[in-house]
Amino acid sequence: MNNLLMLFLLLVSNSFVTFSLTSKQPLANIAIHKVVIDIQESACITAYPIIMDYKHDDIVWVNVVVELAEPSEADWVAVFSPANFNASDCYSESDGDVRKAPYICTAPLKISLLYFLLAGCIVNPKAPLYPRLAQGKSWDQMAVTWTSGYNIDEATPFVEYGWIGQGRNLSPAETLTFSRSSMCGPPASTVGWRDPGFIHTSFLDNMWPNTMYDYRVGHRLVNGSIVWGKSYSFKSSPSPGQDSLQRVIIFGDMGKGERDGSNEYSDFQPGSLITTNRLENDLENFDIVFHIGNLAFAEGYISQWDQFTAQIQPVASRKAYMTASKDPFDGSFDETGRGDLQKLWQKYKVDIAFYGHAHNYERTCPLYENKCVDMERHNYSSSVMGTIHVVVGGAGSELSSFPGLNPNWILYQDEVFGFGKLTAFNHSSLLFEYMKSSNGCVYDSFTISRDYKVVKPSL
Ligand SMILES: *[C@@H]1O[C@H](CO)[C@@H](O)[C@H](O)[C@H]1NC(C)=O
Ligand SMILES: *[C@@H]1O[C@H](CO)[C@@H](O)[C@H](O)[C@H]1NC(C)=O
Ligand SMILES: *[C@@H]1O[C@H](CO)[C@@H](O)[C@H](O)[C@H]1NC(C)=O
Ligand SMILES: *[C@@H]1O[C@H](CO)[C@@H](O)[C@H](O)[C@H]1NC(C)=O
Repeated sequence: MNNLLMLFLLLVSNSFVTFSLTSKQPLANIAIHKVVIDIQESACITAYPIIMDYKHDDIVWVNVVVELAEPSEADWVAVFSPANFNASDCYSESDGDVRKAPYICTAPLKISLLYFLLAGCIVNPKAPLYPRLAQGKSWDQMAVTWTSGYNIDEATPFVEYGWIGQGRNLSPAETLTFSRSSMCGPPASTVGWRDPGFIHTSFLDNMWPNTMYDYRVGHRLVNGSIVWGKSYSFKSSPSPGQDSLQRVIIFGDMGKGERDGSNEYSDFQPGSLITTNRLENDLENFDIVFHIGNLAFAEGYISQWDQFTAQIQPVASRKAYMTASKDPFDGSFDETGRGDLQKLWQKYKVDIAFYGHAHNYERTCPLYENKCVDMERHNYSSSVMGTIHVVVGGAGSELSSFPGLNPNWILYQDEVFGFGKLTAFNHSSLLFEYMKSSNGCVYDSFTISRDYKVVKPSL
């Protein structure tokens, strides 16, 4: 097979498979130990193209056609990667009690009741993929992270970058991975496990402010040849205090979706692709993304992280994509934990606090000690009297409804897929907009204008 990775197609019909009523990944419910090979002469699976080459794009579409004499809803087609999975390596989640699901020991990449999905052979299964940017620890540092099949003993990872059309710089990268035994527990350590390959990060230092760069990731093999990723460009951040237009996209709870319609795993992020598509079409109109929590809803299925990474790659390869994974507290504006936070907001004169977790959009008046301190609804000015709280958790996950209490401090509520955008025009003028993912139109907005010196925290 040389360097070709065969993906393994498993066609299972319900006549010899036990399903259980868990809400896990569908294939996790198949008693893989009981699977018998029962070849139907008339059944046939064809896939095209057979060879997957990442020359043009990091995603390759493959058409799979399944022909069966008597197709039924319970027929499954799944793709395993890597193909050399071994049922004897399975770690039971149920203390060896094989009557309990799940049994399968590595999550399949793709699964579908339909007859279209990803399959085939990959020309270079180790090829570097999914470069993603993040603002570094200082304003003039950009971090580039990507995934490959090359460990450091096989190839040296690096990033080649520079001003567009100017000289090239090289920056070394570090290499990390993790193993099944380092997972906290099931399902990540059992049915959800998938070898993550190698994750590389390079820190590009001494970036010039507000400058267009291009870059590509590479691996120098021991024989001297270099395996390259594709080229992308980005604009570096401005230096602190510099007058410049800066536009920030902010949302939580986006999750991931399936572009091929396959039933990957608990499909409860119906808006995820709508938001991703909107951002991809709007790349010219923002500078950085803050995804505040609840990223992929992978729930211990490691292949889901790969898919999330693939989904955001068209955005994250060109804009710093900042993620946070710990919510300060649950839900929208209940009283829990808010007393202490209120003191902090007041001390640092926080104008706006953003939240995810509740899957919708909500905006309050400027609040201090649970009271509106300003009756203005759209144009705020002068010094900070209270904090405006904004829930931007409607980026993709199944929407949550509002409790229907309608306290007077709520100025706007919306239960559709959407996200927030902050535009800083200069030191003294800020615009917030709430946009719907479906059409990119602005449905709620407000401005804050004030003299810059007023906002410096009094420490
Ligand atoms: C599968 O794993 C078992 C136990 O680790 C091993 O004995 C067996 O040789 C493996 N089979 C293959 C085909 O690698
Ligand atoms: C180096 O090794 C790679 C992988 O085996 C191979 O594809 C490439 O042709 C080799 N390059 C040279 C210059 O031998
Ligand atoms: C800041 O930008 C706003 C919005 O474009 C503009 O109205 C205002 O005049 C600018 N202020 C300064 C000090 O440049
Ligand atoms: C007031 O706020 C609205 C809504 O954000 C905005 O469209 C308008 O430009 C603002 N007016 C001023 C004077 O800032």
